[in-house]
Amino acid sequence: MIAIEGVGKTFQSRDGDAVEALRGVSLQIRRNEFVCLVGPSGCGKSTLLRLVGGLTLPSSGRVSIDGTTVAEPRSDTGFVFQAATLLPWATILDNVLFPARMMGVLTGAHVERARELLTMVGLAGFEGKHPRELSGGMQQRAGICRALVNDPDILLMDEPFGALDALTREELTLELMRIAAERPKTILFVTHSIPEAVLLADRVVVMSPRPGRIAEIIDIDLPRPRDFDMEARHEFQDATRRIRDLIFGSRARRAA
Ligand SMILES: Nc1ncnc2c1ncn2[C@@H]1O[C@H](COP(=O)(O)OP(=O)(O)OP(=O)(O)O)[C@@H](O)[C@H]1O
Ligand SMILES: [Mg+2]
Repeated sequence: MIAIEGVGKTFQSRDGDAVEALRGVSLQIRRNEFVCLVGPSGCGKSTLLRLVGGLTLPSSGRVSIDGTTVAEPRSDTGFVFQAATLLPWATILDNVLFPARMMGVLTGAHVERARELLTMVGLAGFEGKHPRELSGGMQQRAGICRALVNDPDILLMDEPFGALDALTREELTLELMRIAAERPKTILFVTHSIPEAVLLADRVVVMSPRPGRIAEIIDIDLPRPRDFDMEARHEFQDATRRIRDLIFGSRARRAA
């Protein structure tokens, strides 16, 4: 469904320096696959997600969805950012409806769906509140509802749980797996947590330090539905160990 073919991205900074964030990245993602991206800070994970989301364009190569080159944000793609990035002056309901309004597709069905989503994540009764009246975890939940309001086929999530406490994080991880099971989606998910990646993913893509390239792709052979008890399984531990070796091994080599 998503084809990333020989993608490179170089940023031109204001002082004239060029930063090569990605080099020769190729990755094919099947419909309804759950792919996690892990790798050292600055290796281009967010950049890759933004390229798939049409928020930025590649310097070389091509990103396409069902054969169409991605050149701008699409209504069938939802984006969850690391910070909730809600509009402070708008109510929670209006924040969740924002992508539908921006795409010019807002209908009564969206309002109904937004209310359902907010109820699902435990925010019923907060529709008319403003972001500052919600905790950080609650704001992030609203940000997830916003990404789901167009019922996107593709969900791009950039460390969506990074700023949350451990309890909320576990709760939302389970919720995300439930959402993905109920309404299948193609999900590309960036995380710094190796156990989180292994628990969620069908495949974990491990990236190398800048310029970001794909170091290895690891298949996760755990059955679904999954839960935190699976962390005790040898498949889980083998995968986390392999990913750690790849990430910390490459760092050690770089330091040498
Ligand atoms: N808009 C931009 N202008 C200039 N340089 C950028 C821009 N966006 C990213 N970069 C550079 O590209 C590289 C990759 O950044 P990116 O945000 O994709 O990394 P990341 O893997 O998401 O890191 P982290 O794990 O810390 O979030 C970094 O060196 C960063 O400084
Ligand atoms: Mg990032």
